[in-house]
Amino acid sequence: MNYPYQLTTQAAYEEAYRKSVENPEEFWAGVAENFVWRKKWDKVLEWNFTEPSIKWFIGGKLNITESCLDQWAKKQPDTPALIWEPNNPDDPGRTLTYKELLEKVIEFAVVLKNNGVKKGDRVCIYMPMIPELAIAMLACARIGAIHNIVFGGFSAKSIRDRIEDSKCSVVLTTDGVYRGTKPIDLKSAVDNALIDDTLIRRVIVYKHIDSDITMKEGRDVWWQDEVAKLQGQTLTDPIEEMDAEDMLFILYTSGSTGKPKGVVHTTGGYMVYITYTFVNVFQYKPGDVYFCTADIGWVTGHSYIVYGPLAAGATSLMFEGIPTYPDAGRFWDIVDKYKVNILYTAPTAIRSLMAFGTEPLKGKDLGSLKVIGSVGEPINLEAWQWYYDNVGKKNCPVVDTWWQTENGGILISTLAGVTPSIPTYATKPLPGVQPVLVDGNGKVLEGNNVAGNLCIKFPWPGMLRTTYGDHERCRVNYFATYPGYYFSGDGALRDENGNYRITGRVDDVINVSGHRIGTAEVESAINVQDSVVESAVVGYPHDIKGQALYAYVILDGNISEEDALQKINAAVNKEIGHFARPDKIQFVKGLPKTRSGKIMRRILRKIAEGEMNNLGDTTTLLNPEVVEEIKNHRVN
Ligand code: WTA
Repeated sequence: MNYPYQLTTQAAYEEAYRKSVENPEEFWAGVAENFVWRKKWDKVLEWNFTEPSIKWFIGGKLNITESCLDQWAKKQPDTPALIWEPNNPDDPGRTLTYKELLEKVIEFAVVLKNNGVKKGDRVCIYMPMIPELAIAMLACARIGAIHNIVFGGFSAKSIRDRIEDSKCSVVLTTDGVYRGTKPIDLKSAVDNALIDDTLIRRVIVYKHIDSDITMKEGRDVWWQDEVAKLQGQTLTDPIEEMDAEDMLFILYTSGSTGKPKGVVHTTGGYMVYITYTFVNVFQYKPGDVYFCTADIGWVTGHSYIVYGPLAAGATSLMFEGIPTYPDAGRFWDIVDKYKVNILYTAPTAIRSLMAFGTEPLKGKDLGSLKVIGSVGEPINLEAWQWYYDNVGKKNCPVVDTWWQTENGGILISTLAGVTPSIPTYATKPLPGVQPVLVDGNGKVLEGNNVAGNLCIKFPWPGMLRTTYGDHERCRVNYFATYPGYYFSGDGALRDENGNYRITGRVDDVINVSGHRIGTAEVESAINVQDSVVESAVVGYPHDIKGQALYAYVILDGNISEEDALQKINAAVNKEIGHFARPDKIQFVKGLPKTRSGKIMRRILRKIAEGEMNNLGDTTTLLNPEVVEEIKNHRVN
């Protein structure tokens, strides 16, 4: 068998789980043996959740790309590593074997070196879903540069914030991308992000759609030109030996307060954890074609399109387009075309395709599918059933995988076909993961049939180590609410058999179409408008997006509501990105506040949800009269 650590029976899972709790160090050392290390670790784990300080495989030396590429380029050079399906179904796709991908990565690593990128430098990547994005990440990893990928839907302002916070010196981008029939100009977003910027020395632009863009003399170079310069040369592989705890990447994510945080993942533990979970959750078998529909701009793409599958020698399919172009049968065409065995997607995509009925599935052969997965938000029963019945043909286990950017990889999930799937339940923790539920006072809720805030009490190798440039923020956000535990920000219940069901965020983070958005960020984007006095943003249930944003806004009276609407939408586009725009905006005269001046979001949430008769006690408010007014003008 290819993966000595693959658990293929329920008994094997239970045994592994028991060992992982009884002796975590021995357990993880056993898994880590199966990767390429230049030097083995001296000690498996040192940790405390107070500072916090978390170190795995201490003293170990490696380069993650040797596990992801070199070992397979030797053992299975001609196995496809990446299959790329472009946006336009008439364009030929591309397949890169392990041998070819390794060559491309070394080549681009040399380009990075030639452009002055050194070990430890931060590189911002703002690219669409093309193989060069994966090549760019792996080339950074090869030379020990730290990538900071910014999802292509983010605005120039968001790119700039992330560049400044992580002090990047180089940006990798493309001229643009097509989403369906719509061209999107990525390079001008980068240009706007860099106005008056002094940090970025070099922008390397991959010519992808051949659009008309401007290149800034002395700063911008074409990717293809840089590669062409190397032709005919014998390249020296610029690979760097990294420490297990050296940073691999930074990925920004929204929290309940302030600006997005740069979640830091390191090398050794991350590699071991995501590969272990990839192989076990999806029960990947050599030769399987695996298709994750996420964007590499989010953590799912980092861990389960690029690093995890490649470190397992798998064939990973990358899709550039959208599920509804040229029609709502696109995913099924891809499954049919490449005989996909494992499909990993998001509830929001399932719900949006469900809305087209089963017609788009007709005539598509989905018989190759063995496992179907879900991530990003709770999957409602209706979507689960539709997915199971119509996509999996009642024949494929559904893995509902719960995890977060901060976790690196999946924490709670069924192992496909090995442990039981239960609709709407993520089910059991993976080996090495020790969840606890606590009540609002931090009291641990023992036993089964309880609901509370979901925490983890012991480190796992893939967890975040810090938030870039601000360790205190990491401590306060994740380790201070319930001392001694990592707090996820999610609520969950544990049923009579110890299965977990995730109920959603318990903080001010909203999952809109699986995109994590902090309401505080949207409020500050809205408040940028001079005519806005104050705003409050909450989430409410949405049929397709899962949740959507509802904004309550107080205007100063110097602007018409129509103009204000337009300006607010434009401001959110500019400050964050179009995906963070509220679906509903209500102009109000006041916001319900406590006597100490805090906005009572609970009330606003209930009104947004339409639960107007159930607002609880409002008499203690500073301004109870505004509640009636807000109720009466609720946006439907
Ligand atoms: C939510 C995505 C229920 C959750 C990998 C979490 C889920 C947030 C699930 C993290 C699931 C993710 N069931 N909720 N299977 N998966 N979530 O950081 O609220 O983009 O806190 O990571 O998504 O989102 P993030």
